[in-house]
Amino acid sequence: MGLVFITGTDTGVGKTHVTGHLAAAIRSLGHNITTQKWVQCGDLDCPDISAHNTAMGVTDAKDAMANARSVYEFQMAASPHLAAKEQGISINPSKLKAASTALQNTHDIVLIEGAGGLMVPLTDTLTTLDLVAEMSIPTIVVVDNKLGCINHALLTLSALTTHRIPVIGLIINHSAPPTSDPTATHISQDNPHIISQLGHAPVLGILPYNPDQKSYRDIAEKVIQYAIK
Ligand SMILES: Nc1ncnc2c1ncn2[C@@H]1O[C@H](COP(=O)(O)OP(=O)(O)O)[C@@H](O)[C@H]1O
Ligand SMILES: [Mg+2]
Repeated sequence: MGLVFITGTDTGVGKTHVTGHLAAAIRSLGHNITTQKWVQCGDLDCPDISAHNTAMGVTDAKDAMANARSVYEFQMAASPHLAAKEQGISINPSKLKAASTALQNTHDIVLIEGAGGLMVPLTDTLTTLDLVAEMSIPTIVVVDNKLGCINHALLTLSALTTHRIPVIGLIINHSAPPTSDPTATHISQDNPHIISQLGHAPVLGILPYNPDQKSYRDIAEKVIQYAIK
């Protein structure tokens, strides 16, 4: 049924963490969910799909749809267009679409984790944004709550709305332990409000560092409501 795209303000902001734990929470609420990674670049010994599986409590080996879940895997930790080129391959967007459709046909919800941020190129002529727009996939933006994230978040939201991609909302994440610096605390307390207001997007949830199950579950309920109509 529903595809949901998980993008973020950058690489390393918590997309894998959120995708895996959100999928686990949605599964625990009784839904047939899976995750997908269109392109994995680098970290082939510990790919994002394996991290999703660990969070969901499923094993890599038993998955009959493994090839659809992880479509391209490249050794180079770089933008997909370059990592593919390095191996003499050009990413075929039709292959990505077909894999997503196959998962969509067999699951209630499919969470697709992007590689890097929204405008990362898949080929020399196609960005991730272009493909998400073509497929009109409702999108969640993971924001790592720190100095600088307002600009990254608003640019991401602006690109999504300009391309008429439905925005489900923001997940404000804390990928690092809390600091005792009062200025940093003040900034991180203000960020969700200003991003939501100027970006016209709801905050689905604020995830602390090492959140408890309830934090994921609250977000999961909102995503289910949106994705399963
Ligand atoms: N809310 C969180 N609590 C604890 N660790 C987190 C949280 N969010 C992210 N991390 C950690 O931060 C690092 C980067 O997150 P990751 O999900 O891999 O980012 P991305 O997929 O955007 O590159 C990982 O080590 C991940 O476990
Ligand atoms: Mg990731």
